[in-house]
Amino acid sequence: MKNLVIIGASGHGKVIGDIAVRNGYEEIVFLDDNESLSECAGFLVAGRGDDFIRYPDRDFVVAIGNASVRQFYQEKLEAQNYRVVTLIHPQAVIGRRVEISPGTVVMAGAVINSDARIGKGCIVNTCSSIDHDCLIGDYVHVSVGAHVAGGVSIKDRTWIGAGAVVSNGVAICDDCMIGAGAVVVRDISVQGTYVGVPAKRNGHE
Ligand SMILES: CC(C)(COP(=O)(O)OP(=O)(O)OC[C@H]1O[C@@H](n2cnc3c(N)ncnc32)[C@H](O)[C@@H]1OP(=O)(O)O)[C@@H](O)C(=O)NCCC(=O)NCCS
Repeated sequence: MKNLVIIGASGHGKVIGDIAVRNGYEEIVFLDDNESLSECAGFLVAGRGDDFIRYPDRDFVVAIGNASVRQFYQEKLEAQNYRVVTLIHPQAVIGRRVEISPGTVVMAGAVINSDARIGKGCIVNTCSSIDHDCLIGDYVHVSVGAHVAGGVSIKDRTWIGAGAVVSNGVAICDDCMIGAGAVVVRDISVQGTYVGVPAKRNGHE
C-alpha cells in the first residue's frame, strides 16, 4: 500500500492530497502546527510538523506555501533520510528530457516543456507553464496561470505570482516576489517585490 505524509494542512495541502490520491496513495495523513485542525480534504491531521519522526517508512511531501518554511521542513526530512517524493497530476503535461527534483509538486493543467530543469520543493501550480530550457531553482513557486517562457532562469525561493508572465531568456535572482499579473521583460538581479507591466520594483519608479 502507498502511504504518504503531507506536512501542511492548508488549501494548498488539500490540492496535493487530491494529486496524491490520483497517484495511487491509499493512506494519507497530514501534519500541521495548527492544533485546531483535525482534518484536511477528508484526511486526518495526525499531529504537528515535527511529528514526522513517527512515520519512518512513509513517503513525504511538504505542502507549505512559504518557501523558507517549506525548505526548512524538506531539509530536515532529507537530513534524516526520510523519503521526499515528487507529485505530478496525471493531467499535467511534461515534455521529454525534463528533470524534476524531489518535493516538487506539479498541479493539474500545468505544462513543462522539453529540457526544463526544476529544482527541489517547487510548486508548479494549476495551469501554469514553464517552457523549454528553463532552469528553475529550489523552492520556487510558479503560481496559478503564470507563464514562464523558454530559456528563463529563476533562482531559489522566488515566487512568480498568479497570471504573471516572464519573457524568454530572462534571469530572476533568488528570494523575489513577482506580483500577480506582472510581466517581467528584463533580468532581475536585486531581491524585492516587482509588479506591473513591465514589472518594476514595488515603490521604485
Ligand atoms: C505584489 C504583492 C506581493 C504585494 O503585496 P503587498 O506588499 O501586501 O502590497 P500592497 O497590497 O500593500 O500594495 C502596495 C501597492 O502595490 C500595488 N500592488 C500590489 N500588488 C500589485 C500587483 N500584483 N500588480 C500591480 N500593483 C500591485 C497596490 O495597489 C499598492 O499600490 P498603492 O500603494 O498605489 O495603493 C501582492 O499584491 C501580490 O500580487 N501577490 C501575489 C499573490 C498571488 O499571486 N497568489 C497566487 C497564489 S497561487
